[in-house]
Amino acid sequence: MSPQQLRRASRRRFLQFLAASPLLTLAGGAALAEALAVRPADPMIWAPRDLDALISEPKQALDVFDFEPVARKNLPQAHFGYMVTGADDEVTLRANREGFLHFQLRPRRLIDVGAIDMAMEIFGVRYDSPIVIAPTGGNRAFHPDGELAVARAAKTGNHLEMLATGASTSIEDASAARGAPVWFQLYATDKWSLTEALVRRAESAGAPAIALTLDTLSAANWETLARLRRGDSRNCADCHDWSFPGYVARRPNFDGLDLGGATQLSPRNLTWDSVKRLRDIVKGKLVLKGILVHEDAVLAASAGIDAIIVSNHGGRFGDMGRATIDALPEIVEAVGGRIPVLVDSGFRRGTDIIKALALGARAVCIGRPYLWGLGAFGQAGVERVLEILRGELRIAMQQLGAPSLRDISPAMVRRA
Ligand code: FNR
Repeated sequence: MSPQQLRRASRRRFLQFLAASPLLTLAGGAALAEALAVRPADPMIWAPRDLDALISEPKQALDVFDFEPVARKNLPQAHFGYMVTGADDEVTLRANREGFLHFQLRPRRLIDVGAIDMAMEIFGVRYDSPIVIAPTGGNRAFHPDGELAVARAAKTGNHLEMLATGASTSIEDASAARGAPVWFQLYATDKWSLTEALVRRAESAGAPAIALTLDTLSAANWETLARLRRGDSRNCADCHDWSFPGYVARRPNFDGLDLGGATQLSPRNLTWDSVKRLRDIVKGKLVLKGILVHEDAVLAASAGIDAIIVSNHGGRFGDMGRATIDALPEIVEAVGGRIPVLVDSGFRRGTDIIKALALGARAVCIGRPYLWGLGAFGQAGVERVLEILRGELRIAMQQLGAPSLRDISPAMVRRA
């Protein structure tokens, strides 16, 4: 049943319940029940989103959410489930969105916002906006062009892109499609020489930064994926072998590397010593992805780390219940400007992005929205998602009275 049909059915049941009530029979019965049940919301919603009315081309999209139901229609249920799932009760998944309601914006007036400059610089490279492509593995599950489509879209809008270790395209091909080096997201396997080989490969492909992901240290309880997979009649095992050798055999970043002895993509015994060891071999910048508390931010800054990504993996690992936008202020404060702080998880609107920038983030990474665009329309979908986000950020900057990112100040945001 579609959400709209569900709403109609529950309204019908509510009316039947009220009409059967003896109290209401005395007071005028069904007519009063109807009047109570249809009392409109305030403010009235004249054009609620109809999830059955799908857009047929990217330019029809009014916001990034318009792509998700199209991706759902296009994709095998199991692949869609993998994309959208959170962990456990998905409390964190929802908290990531609700967290933005904890912050309000304080606009300044009478500032010339005729020319808006969204340019963001990090590690000496300039991008046209602070909107970054977060690493997500196996993009060919969502479109045959996979990461190549994403990289080409990132090129169109000159976005910083991070490529996942588990990408379905090699870093060499992704960088070629992006037309510039991409950052490499690293899973530090349980075999040091393999981890080192992945780093060397990324660096040879020109990756200026390695982003080590810290939050995949356990299995994930992905119930949404499990439930949607039940409705998928195909046999997943025909395509997917989830053993370590089976997984990496399908991931081109491992092509040609010696896998012997490795058993885990993301080892459970990763510690600050592993980070130090990695720091010693990474020639470029080393970034930690998945920091959520100020204590770890301080350790990161003093361990010679070059940037932090505040992330809860889009609510996919560990249902901690805390939005990253809520975690961001304590981390920015702890870091004290020593290194850039990036953030992701739940960003869907220009106003979400500007709240994070005002709280001190250098840039904001996007995950699912570009995957919705990819699953819906391939490269054109990803391009439109990014265009919408840039457009909304532009409006937010104009409204806030900030012609450039430098002008977005902490005074422009307050906790509600
Ligand atoms: C991810 N993410 C992720 N992160 C990472 O470091 N390595 C990875 O391989 C993946 N793979 C992955 C697959 C899929 C399908 C999703 C949705 C996410 C997490 C990603 O980088 C980012 O942290 C979140 O996606 C941000 O949250 P939103 O924007 O999806 O809410």
